[in-house]
Amino acid sequence: MRTQIAIIGAGPAGLVLAHLLHRAGIDAVVVERRSRDYVEGRVRAGVLEQGTVELLDRLGVGARMRREGLPHAGTNLAVDGEMFRIDMQALTGSGIMVYGQQEVMRDLFDAAEERGLPIVFEAEEVQPHDIGTDRPHVTWRRDGAEHRLDCDFVAGCDGFHGVSRGCIPDGVRQEFERVYPFGWLGILAEVPPAAHELIYANHERGFALASMRSAGRSRYYVQCPLDDRIEDWPDDRFWDELCLRLGPQAAAGVTRGRSFEKSIAPLRSFVTEPMRHGRLFLAGDAAHIVPPTGAKGMNLAVSDVVMLAEALAEFYQDKSAAGIDGYSARALARVWKAERFSWWFTGLTHRFPGTGPLERRLQQAELAYIKGSRAAQTTLAENYVGLPLV
Ligand code: FAD
Ligand code: DHB
Repeated sequence: MRTQIAIIGAGPAGLVLAHLLHRAGIDAVVVERRSRDYVEGRVRAGVLEQGTVELLDRLGVGARMRREGLPHAGTNLAVDGEMFRIDMQALTGSGIMVYGQQEVMRDLFDAAEERGLPIVFEAEEVQPHDIGTDRPHVTWRRDGAEHRLDCDFVAGCDGFHGVSRGCIPDGVRQEFERVYPFGWLGILAEVPPAAHELIYANHERGFALASMRSAGRSRYYVQCPLDDRIEDWPDDRFWDELCLRLGPQAAAGVTRGRSFEKSIAPLRSFVTEPMRHGRLFLAGDAAHIVPPTGAKGMNLAVSDVVMLAEALAEFYQDKSAAGIDGYSARALARVWKAERFSWWFTGLTHRFPGTGPLERRLQQAELAYIKGSRAAQTTLAENYVGLPLV
């Protein structure tokens, strides 16, 4: 089998890239380790930046998002129970859209099927080869048979645990990492959200976040120790802790109910440089991870592949390698800004074990400053709604 671009991984990065390339008239085949049901079933991100929303529209996959997604003009911060709102729309002219990653994936898969985009699911032992040459290829096993895909380029969109990043040799690859000393315990429940918009809460007992998926489905998170297990958190304990951290005003809006999804996610800041080696490009979580505070993960995956698709279109249409040569530096410039914002927002809102009353007072002072400063609110809002692609 031969194609122009072999895409490894059918998450948001891989599938958005497949659609972008299809629109540019470039052939691609997506090779995914899991089944469609598995990829679509993973509960992950919930907030789309304006740029992501507009891109899904441009790709012709935004109709259901426009019908069912929840556009938000602002977001709330709570400090020891006291809330204030950041009017992102007024400050930046943009807002965000609450629409789950699962829904985005469903829309992308449905459209891929309609457009006949080739996706190989349940491919085992996927492996890129010869990325240092002009004739790379990708191999995998499926149903006991060996498969080989010859291509011009390989796009490593296979997430943090994928094979692609490791293909960049140790002497070339530089990794930057911080693992945070806590996790996020998240639940989904079939109850109306606490408020119309999200609430990010800094409380002495730790961070909490009130989010949602629809008018009847809520998504809540509380910061928890890394060694906690979900068995330690029966629903009653979760609701009590959430309400305590959100404070009485926000807690008054919380409807309790049985959770139908509960999981603990670790928090990490991670960047690999460069994002290209020979004929291999990395995009999305394969190249970087942000802590979830600020909801940048999926949006970064999308902005990476927008840049990659532009670079590849330039290569095939204009016969110029300038775009692919510049891809890594261009993508990393935006990645580092999102890394900075996610790191900062995590530091501002979480309780760090081992830090004392001085750090707590500094957090409170910074939040009070943001509450009273249009300039500080604008800085937060600009980053939250998503920085432009430059
Ligand atoms: P992925 O979504 O990881 O997709 C990679 C794909 O590659 C997967 O389908 C995987 O099965 C496939 N793959 C992996 N290895 C191979 C291989 N060897 N061969 C072939 N295929 C392979 N972001 C937020 O903004 N908010 C959140 O609340 C949030 N929660 C998260 C919770 C969890 C548990 C995780 C892991 C991430 C969360 N994120 C969140 C981050 C966000 O979901 C990711 O940033 C986003 O999914 C990145 O998309 P991606 O396509 O780069 O990677
Ligand atoms: C959600 C996740 C986030 O990390 C965030 O900052 C906002 C919302 C969510 O899952 O709804």
